[in-house]
Amino acid sequence: MNTDGRPRSILDLAAMKAAGRRIAMLTCYDAAFARLLEAADIDVLLVGDSLHQVLGGHETTLGATLDEMIYHAAAVHRGAPRTLLFVDLPFLTYQVSVEDAIRNAGRVMQESGAHGVKLEGGQPMAGTVRALVDRGIPVMGHLGLTPQSVHALGGYRVQGRESERARELEAHARALEDAGACAIVLELLPAALAGRISESLTIPTIGIGAGPGCDGQVLVLHDMLGLNEMFSPKFLKRFAQLGESVREAAREFSAEVRGGKYPGVEHSFE
Ligand code: KIV
Repeated sequence: MNTDGRPRSILDLAAMKAAGRRIAMLTCYDAAFARLLEAADIDVLLVGDSLHQVLGGHETTLGATLDEMIYHAAAVHRGAPRTLLFVDLPFLTYQVSVEDAIRNAGRVMQESGAHGVKLEGGQPMAGTVRALVDRGIPVMGHLGLTPQSVHALGGYRVQGRESERARELEAHARALEDAGACAIVLELLPAALAGRISESLTIPTIGIGAGPGCDGQVLVLHDMLGLNEMFSPKFLKRFAQLGESVREAAREFSAEVRGGKYPGVEHSFE
């Protein structure tokens, strides 16, 4: 761990859990925000395939491509070279075969500088997780509402409310830990279930809409900054209102341009 308590390598994630230090993770898609988040001591950055929704304006994450992920991940790594970086493997880049998963995860690591990849799914993905970990590719799991399966799950809804599904999710989490995953994102789970899963594992859980019992929390950057005003689920806390600041700045800019106030002499060359 760094002297400031931030993780330097994926090995520090379990050490943070053992020491009772919660992990703060945010999504990030570009170098400018990455610089700011590194300066703010965020523990882990995630280039989520949510970029397909947040930046691309799409309904789901399903269309994100490996090349897009690598492009954005490399930019984030340039902006925050000292921060642990995980990158989502997009839909169909790891589900078809273990060979695909190794080749595609390997490309992410080689071409972006990331420290690990994240993939969705439990027991059915355990063999793939083991294969990646055995080849030196750290893996973060993702359980609960797994956005790449949004159609199979019937929409973006809380998972594991029924006791049988809750037991399944607990088994999936154990399978991922046994397969060598270094952390697991728990998305949209009842707080009690997420707390139980977190207590049962030695690797950290990182929650989003999964209550306070997780070992860390993650939010989508644009949501927590108030840049995505149309999205307001119960779990989201907006830590800034940048949408309003952007509108105000743009209005002021256009008023000054139209009124001949900007640029002034102080912005002009002799
Ligand atoms: O794609 C993403 O941003 C994610 C987070 C919400 C965990 O998977």
